[in-house]
Amino acid sequence: MLKLIKKIRMASLFALFVPCAMAQTPVYLDETKPIEQRIEDALSRMTLEEKVAMCHAQSKFSSPGVARLGIPENWTTDGPHGIRPEVLWDQWDQAAWTNDSCIAFPALTCLAASWSPEISLLYGKSIGEEARYRNKNILLGPGVNIYRSPLNGRNFEYMGEDPYLASKMVVPYIQGVQANGVAACVKHFALNNQEAYRHTVDVKVDDRALYEIYLPAFKAAVQEGEAWAIMGAYNRYKGEWCCHNQYLLNDILRDEWGFDGVVVSDWGGVNDTKQSIYNGLDMEFGTWTDGLSEGVSNAYDNYFLANPFLELLKSGEVPEEEVNKKVRNILRMIFRTNMNTKRPWGSFGTEEHALAGRRIAQEGIVLLQNKNKVLPINVNATRKILVVGENAIKMMTVGGGSSSLKAKYEISPLDGIRNYVSETVNVAYARGYVGDTDGSYNGVTSGQDLSENRPADVLIREAVDMARDADVVVFVGGLNKSDFQDCEGNDRKALELPYGQNEVIEALAAANPNVVVVIVSGNAVAMPWVNKVPAIVEAWYSGTEAGNALASILVGEVNPSGKLPFTFPVRLQDNGAHALGEFPGTEDSVTYHESIFVGYRWTDKENIKPLFPFGHGLSYTTFEYGKPSITAKTMGANEKLVVTVPVKNTGSREGAEVVQFYISDKKSSLPRPVKELKGFEKVRLNPGEEKVVSFTIDKEALSFYDDRIREWVAEPGKFEAIIGASATDIKGRLPFELK
Ligand code: BGC
Repeated sequence: MLKLIKKIRMASLFALFVPCAMAQTPVYLDETKPIEQRIEDALSRMTLEEKVAMCHAQSKFSSPGVARLGIPENWTTDGPHGIRPEVLWDQWDQAAWTNDSCIAFPALTCLAASWSPEISLLYGKSIGEEARYRNKNILLGPGVNIYRSPLNGRNFEYMGEDPYLASKMVVPYIQGVQANGVAACVKHFALNNQEAYRHTVDVKVDDRALYEIYLPAFKAAVQEGEAWAIMGAYNRYKGEWCCHNQYLLNDILRDEWGFDGVVVSDWGGVNDTKQSIYNGLDMEFGTWTDGLSEGVSNAYDNYFLANPFLELLKSGEVPEEEVNKKVRNILRMIFRTNMNTKRPWGSFGTEEHALAGRRIAQEGIVLLQNKNKVLPINVNATRKILVVGENAIKMMTVGGGSSSLKAKYEISPLDGIRNYVSETVNVAYARGYVGDTDGSYNGVTSGQDLSENRPADVLIREAVDMARDADVVVFVGGLNKSDFQDCEGNDRKALELPYGQNEVIEALAAANPNVVVVIVSGNAVAMPWVNKVPAIVEAWYSGTEAGNALASILVGEVNPSGKLPFTFPVRLQDNGAHALGEFPGTEDSVTYHESIFVGYRWTDKENIKPLFPFGHGLSYTTFEYGKPSITAKTMGANEKLVVTVPVKNTGSREGAEVVQFYISDKKSSLPRPVKELKGFEKVRLNPGEEKVVSFTIDKEALSFYDDRIREWVAEPGKFEAIIGASATDIKGRLPFELK
């Protein structure tokens, strides 16, 4: 009997301890196990309700995990220029935290203008660190919608008009962000090239333009950048909303490109439960609660992918595998981000990030024109600099829509100039014009009082009087982040500068020969006064260190090296979309009649001289291109050719030149652009130094998308390799033949 009791005691003791002793880390938590195995294990432990909950938001910017299993929530943040301030749980308004002021990085147009993948990596790394520190695992950016029209209100958030440039620039940004265990969510997929009618417009575009112009940067983001997330666009394509679009999300993104990350909806971009179940969407965000909020306790439960989805699953009308597919993608992203125990901790609002932002801006600011060597300003020989214009003092990090930021600080151009000259130089300021004095967005205010009641003629007179005895006049104008300027939600109304700035510039030019016009914008603007002022600079929206970056270039501490990522047309009619009459189309649809002839592809074809061409940008030094050479005159189907060109700095200071490489197909069975960018390199050269730059020609560089057979083809025949300092400043041409 005693023996039996002992046995029972032993057994119960065993029962108590053994599970602990033998307990193993569940497979889904075991980071040594393959990710797909972990996903299946986690999935097998989840209830239907838990799975559905993961497919939609629980607050403005977050979605639930499975607390019971230790699977954390997902926290998204805008993007793409800095980490958005915290908002209230259920509202767009900022939550008024006191520790969420970020470093604002330059706008993506500025990054693209650097033509430097290395700078893009620095950008991604820095913003990724900021996102990580703030505990966000999805950064809503970068944006790579192609610059189709200079009126698009969101062009400043994108990377220009050329698919090759955007592809090369987007990849390092993604890699830099994701190295922090933060998913880059590339947006807006796809064809979101205007703000007008963005929620309804059905974009009609031929397959060649789709594949050759509008998709390549997304494809590079997925295949080369290995982006872990992508955001659907608001608009429609082939009649279906892009956030749940069979063609874009299932056929192209998943099947053709093999994307294994999550598809996130744009905020409020979901419009249908069945389509969002079957057409490739994984996570629904921002759906507003029209008609759903009344009488229900939690509007998020009434999202298209919430209760309506759950009911269809429970009734068996939709098989469970449909939710499993989505949850697999979501878990994969979670394992890569906030369940990766090895990810770094990040850092936020640091000097290192501010300096990275300054460096990015210095690499992206473009010197468009510089006659009579007005720039750089010789601060030792200058008594008085007159700065004119609202943009010299207006904070630009607040506004513009979802990319609006609460920056830790922002250096204005005027303050930047004051920082970069000695106290003996008189830096005077005149307002010149009044634009938009408001500086607030979703509860974030710039805190600036820009009120000015004097009429335009008085402001001009004042500026002109002050300009007369100035050694140099720096007019800082352009656009701003207000509605109908560079701003989400609406497009610009005209190519012209707003707020009567042309009159101010003309008046200044008549009063002083040394006028430098600085344009702060994310878009091209018309410049009827181009021949009346010696110097023009495109400064972009450059974030926290904007003013310092600009000033360092104006005074010559830094030699400008940015080049335009899009064409500046003289008139709107010189842009294909506008020449052919379809921008922005109607509420229902817009047709891209210009097809593949976007940007310089249009001006080349129509022989139009742009105001400033794609790829244009000057330096304070001079570069001389030597004779380019090619390894052979013919190329076999599977061979490669190499083109080399020596580039020499012939001036007296160091500088960087962006050498561009274009391919021209001389004869083909389908129309082709006169030339297309297929390579570039930013070379840094000391005075007198020469480097040989080389580009490889492979089949891909010669191919076009043949919509008749739905394949990329390189047709045998004559081609030309072109070296340029811009799309119109051609330095050499080398004919060759593809056998
Ligand atoms: C924008 C997105 C943004 C989202 C969240 C939308 O209105 O189109 O780019 O990420 O809001 O703020």
